[in-house]
Amino acid sequence: MSWKPWAGVFTEAPDPQVEQFTESVSFDRRLYSQDIRGSVAHAQMLAKVGLLTAEECQQIEQALHEIEEEIRSGRFVFRPELEDIHMHIERALTDRLGDVGRKLHTARSRNDQVATAMRLWVREAIEQIDYRLRQIQEAFVGRCERDAGVIVPGYTHLRRAQPVLAAHYWLCYCEKFQRDRDRLSDCRRRVNMLPLGAAALAGTSLPIDRHDVARRLGFVDPETGQEQLLSNSLDAVSDRDFLLEFVFDLALISEHLSTWAEEWILWSSQEFGFLKLPEAFCTGSSIMPQKRNPDVLELIRGKTARVIGDLQTLLVLIKGLPLAYNRDLQEDKPPVFDAFDTVRACLEIAVPLIQQAELDPAAIAERLDQGYLDATSFMEYLIQRGVPQRTAHHQVGRLVRRAMELGISLAQLPFEEIQQMCPEIDQGVFQVLGARQAVLVMQSYGSTAPAEVERQIQVWKSRLAAEKAQCQPTLIL
Ligand code: ARG
Repeated sequence: MSWKPWAGVFTEAPDPQVEQFTESVSFDRRLYSQDIRGSVAHAQMLAKVGLLTAEECQQIEQALHEIEEEIRSGRFVFRPELEDIHMHIERALTDRLGDVGRKLHTARSRNDQVATAMRLWVREAIEQIDYRLRQIQEAFVGRCERDAGVIVPGYTHLRRAQPVLAAHYWLCYCEKFQRDRDRLSDCRRRVNMLPLGAAALAGTSLPIDRHDVARRLGFVDPETGQEQLLSNSLDAVSDRDFLLEFVFDLALISEHLSTWAEEWILWSSQEFGFLKLPEAFCTGSSIMPQKRNPDVLELIRGKTARVIGDLQTLLVLIKGLPLAYNRDLQEDKPPVFDAFDTVRACLEIAVPLIQQAELDPAAIAERLDQGYLDATSFMEYLIQRGVPQRTAHHQVGRLVRRAMELGISLAQLPFEEIQQMCPEIDQGVFQVLGARQAVLVMQSYGSTAPAEVERQIQVWKSRLAAEKAQCQPTLIL
C-alpha cells in the first residue's frame, strides 16, 4: 500500500515538482502540538463512542505523545513528500502502530483537522499577545509615577496646542492598548468554536460525539461552561473569518505601536529634545560618527507594513472561494504566523524601551512658555466671566498677536493692556496664565486635570494588579 493516504484511486505517483509545490510542512510544522492535542481528543471520543477500543486509544495517545516529544526535541525527520504536519504525524503513528494507527482518521478529514489546529493555535496566540499588551500598559503606568508633575506641550497638527501632564500621554496609550485587548478577547469568542467532526464538508454517518471533543479541547464558553461548536459542517471547514479578525486586531495593534514609535522618534530628536532613548536601543551610522539613531522605534513603525500586508493577503485569499474547503486555504498560515511573530517581537522590545527612556523635564520646561499653550484656558476664564465664546476667542487671539509682536508670553503682557482688550478681567487672570496654571484649572472628566489623571492612574493600577493575580503567561508557540 502506498504511504500516501489518498493514493488508492491513483495509478501514477505525483511528480516530485508537485510535491515540492504543494507541501506546507515547511511552515505548518509549527502546529504540531495543536494537531496532536486535537488528535488525542478525537481518539478519546472515538473510544467513548465505541469506534476504538480503550486499548487502541491508549496506544494512540501514548504514541502521539512520543511523536510530540520527538518533534519538540528536533529528532523528528520531516519530508516534503508527506505534504503537511498532519500527514507527518499520522504517518509516524502508523509506522509505530500499524492498523491501530490507521484508525485515527476515522470520522475526520484534514479539512476539519487543520481548522481545529489553527483555532487552538490562535487561541494561544491571543493569550500571548494579550499578556504582552498588559506588560506595555504596566510599563506606561509605571512611568506615570516617575514622570509625576511633568508637563509637556500637547499637539494638534503637530503644532503646540495645550499643555498636558506627561502621565496623561502615557495613559492615552494604555487606553488604546486596552481596546486592542478587548478586541482580542471578543475575537477569542469566535475563535473558540470547534470545527472537528465536520469531516470533509458534510459531517459523518459515524456516531461521533462532537460535544465531547469540544469539552476535551476547551471549546467551551468560559462563563456558562457550554460547549461551543460550529453548527454547519460546510461553514466549519471553509470559515477563515477568525483568522482575518485576529490579523486585523494585530494590524490595529501595529498601528498603535507605530503611532507611539513615531511620537517618540520626534520627541527624542534634537528639535524636540523631550526624551532620551537608552543608548542600548539606538544604533549608529557607518559614516557619521556623531549619530545615535532611533532604529528600534523606526523598525516598529516600519514593521507595521508587514502586518497590514498580511491582512491584505488574507482578505484577497478568502475572497471568492467557493464552498467548502479549497487548497488555497493552506496559504492562510504564513501571513497569520508572520503577523503574530512581527507583533510579538515589536511588543517585546517596546516594553524595556518604555521603561528605560528618560524624559528631560528641564529641556521641556525651558520652552514650555513658547506656543501660547495657555490661550485656551485664558479664553475659558473669560467665558466664566460672562464673555460670549466667540468674543473671548477673538479677544485672546488679539492679545496673542500682540504678545507675538513683542516676543513675550501672555502672562508677560502688562495687566492694563490685557484689561483694555478684555474689560471683564481682574488680577485673577494670572491664575490661568502660564502652562502650569492652564493644567491646574482643568476639571472635566477625562481631562488632564491633575486630580483626574491621578484618579485614572489609580484605576489602571488596581485593574492591572487584579489581572496579575488571575493571569499567568502561557504556552510558547
Ligand atoms: N495542508 C492543508 C492546509 O493547510 C491541510 C488540508 C488539506 N486538505 C485537503 N483536502 N487537501 O489547508
